[in-house]
Amino acid sequence: MTTRPANLLVIFGATGDLAQRMLLPSLFGLERDRLLPEALKVLGCARSELDTEAFVQQARETLEPHAGADDGDALDRLLGRLEYRPVDLAAKTSTGKLVREIKRRRNDGDVLFHLSTAPRWYPTICSALAEAGLDDPGTRVMLEKPIGHDLQSSTEINEGVGQAFAEDQVYRVDHYLGKDGVQNLLALRFSNALFEPIWNARHIEQVQITVAETVGLEERAGYYDEYGAMRDMVQNHMLQLLCLTAMEPPSRFKPTAVRNEKLKVLNSLRPISGSDLEANSVAGQYTTGAIDGKTVPGYLEELGSDSSTETFVALRTHIDNWRWSGVPFYLRTGKRLPRRVTEIYIQFRQVPHSIFSGAAGSLKPNSLIIRLQPEEHISLCLMNKKPGLDRNGVHLSQVALDLDRHSAFDQENRRIAYERLYLDAIEGNGTLFVRRDEVEAAWSWVDTILEGWHTRELAPKQYQAGTWGPSSAVAMTERHGHSWRE
Ligand code: BG6
Repeated sequence: MTTRPANLLVIFGATGDLAQRMLLPSLFGLERDRLLPEALKVLGCARSELDTEAFVQQARETLEPHAGADDGDALDRLLGRLEYRPVDLAAKTSTGKLVREIKRRRNDGDVLFHLSTAPRWYPTICSALAEAGLDDPGTRVMLEKPIGHDLQSSTEINEGVGQAFAEDQVYRVDHYLGKDGVQNLLALRFSNALFEPIWNARHIEQVQITVAETVGLEERAGYYDEYGAMRDMVQNHMLQLLCLTAMEPPSRFKPTAVRNEKLKVLNSLRPISGSDLEANSVAGQYTTGAIDGKTVPGYLEELGSDSSTETFVALRTHIDNWRWSGVPFYLRTGKRLPRRVTEIYIQFRQVPHSIFSGAAGSLKPNSLIIRLQPEEHISLCLMNKKPGLDRNGVHLSQVALDLDRHSAFDQENRRIAYERLYLDAIEGNGTLFVRRDEVEAAWSWVDTILEGWHTRELAPKQYQAGTWGPSSAVAMTERHGHSWRE
């Protein structure tokens, strides 16, 4: 059976925070550009005992602030697609009744189920779908992260889902893959002849990936305190960025080709364990500090109880293959850091010999900085001669060739990551979704570090909110002659 665009999108968890902040606005963005299939209906399901009218009214209130003066028709068109059914996932009869109704009204097209509930419900929902006969190849299920809490729980969830659906029907979301700047990383690497010949250990000295946030716990204390930065950010977003930065060129931009290459990277990651653990990993937790001149409370105060959950992680790892042999990959993520930035920093090796003897001190290695957030910006830092009549040797200075993606493509609106992901899942293209073996390989690597911290009773080190994490994260790079880019 060939994949056809879905004409029914069912969102479980349709009244949740993600739906309000991302999912409905993304559907609206697609509607505005007439990218949704003509016949698509969107059925929201959640615990709240609402009727369709009340759900549509809620959606209207959510979307009105996103609508421009000319968007009234698009808003009405989208609201006209929405329906709502309450469901109690804990009650088999309630879930059964809902999925039987969906089965009855399903007409010719494919169906996309988006599970935006707590992941423990995924197997329950999937087996109810299968029991109702909604497991044919025309059904796709989109799963939100986190898929589990560790390798074992992730395997259990994946098994439960896998009993109902074949792997190519399962679309695991990592919203970073939906970001345009992240896809541009692939364009940059694989559609320019310039970079690939030097994208290896012979020419690259070190790679840094930073995902820094200024926010703290927000409204998610229960979730975050159970997960922490390693499970919340490293296991998924950071490792996906690492994969896209380090993978071999896939033969084409298609699901199997791309995912196979990412998996090879994950399987080549050197475990951080034993005596390496303290040298190559740092966990931190923020204390009271200031961001943008405003005092912010510490993690424990925000949480209101004691906790050893890490809000910051810095790692030094290696990819043990020919391309990357000996190149350190530094990963760093945290809450309440001085500024919001997501960036990949590639530092090339120094020139083998400087002909400008008087200028040797100022010679800096080339670097490529790919900033994904808050703005998308690419800088290639090169050495230049400072203009002037130097009489005691050439004076050198580093200058950046800058590509500001927003000014370069100013006619394009910025899209929400979920717009891309919905568009692809509706059309049945899984390239920007994560395969089961990737998720499990990532958990396996992350679990080793978490278990090491636990066994050695390594509590997170404190850092003041508004700083770049504990000083040991700085020491981790400086021991090797490197410094974090700040
Ligand atoms: C989510 C994490 O997956 O990503 C959050 O659960 C984090 O803790 C968020 O804040 C960051 O996403 P973005 O798109 O704002 O970088």
